[in-house]
Amino acid sequence: MSIEMPIEDASLTQLQHVPIDNVMSIIDEGLVHLPSYRELYYRWERQQWKAQDIDFSGDRTQWLRMNEDEQRMRLGGLSAFFKGEECVTNTLAPYITAMPNDDMRIFVTTQLVDEARHTVFFERFFRDALGVDYGRLEETLAVVERNMGEKTRYILVDALNDVSGRIQREPDNLARLVEGVVLYHVIIEGTMALAGQRGILEVYREQNIFPAFRGGFTAVARDESRHVVFGVKFLRDMIQRDAAQAKVIFNAVNTYARTAIEAVSPPPQQIEFMLANKQDPWTTPRYGVESLRKKLKVIGLSMEIPDVPPPPVF
Ligand SMILES: [Fe+2]
Ligand SMILES: [Fe+2]
Repeated sequence: MSIEMPIEDASLTQLQHVPIDNVMSIIDEGLVHLPSYRELYYRWERQQWKAQDIDFSGDRTQWLRMNEDEQRMRLGGLSAFFKGEECVTNTLAPYITAMPNDDMRIFVTTQLVDEARHTVFFERFFRDALGVDYGRLEETLAVVERNMGEKTRYILVDALNDVSGRIQREPDNLARLVEGVVLYHVIIEGTMALAGQRGILEVYREQNIFPAFRGGFTAVARDESRHVVFGVKFLRDMIQRDAAQAKVIFNAVNTYARTAIEAVSPPPQQIEFMLANKQDPWTTPRYGVESLRKKLKVIGLSMEIPDVPPPPVF
């Protein structure tokens, strides 16, 4: 299959072969020509896929051939995504209620369904390919969560729950919702998730592993592209409606961006190991910083954001 095929209506099997940067470019295009909220909703109608359709038996065979160290290493990043999808599913409902108009509310309602599907997709992958299953979803996640780093947990669990709770208590306070969209759509989805997703999918494609997972995870990325474009458009519209919201966005980015970038950076001992092996440890966080920078520009905010080292020269 040609990599030039349209991603718009690609099937799960076709998506296994699509380089992740082709999906990421949908976001860049979306940022140049911001679609309407209704158009984002129509995209959702066209881009349906089923977590139940995926056959993970080939991925399972590959997993069983990996040694324990390799399994442990892969489990780290994947666990953050599995738990992350559950967190975003459980915290989005207050956003729906608080949206200032119907077209926005209709779109965010589709997003809640997407996040639920992503959680089911990961549950199936963990169970059928990795053999991780402790009964009920909550019980499996309580175990999976232990593989998450502290900074990732702070952003996905603590900060997101706080922000969502504040929106729920004050649904008519626009500043609460704006702060919430910065954390959810721009920092978590647009900075951390896209950077982490790109890193994982690139490596799996190069190593030719987990083809069924790759198809599903690329469909997840296509869904995320709609969510991120929505978030950027929403914040841009809110600043245009009320200039005071720019300060709210500025403060929220300052509060969460540094921890988010650190959360997708390798730990110090791994940085040393990677440098010694002539690998760039900052590819993923650098992509996150760049993604964040592009989004803030479209939102209409000029501000300093945390940076990461340039590519090392070996
Ligand atoms: Fe998701
Ligand atoms: Fe999402």
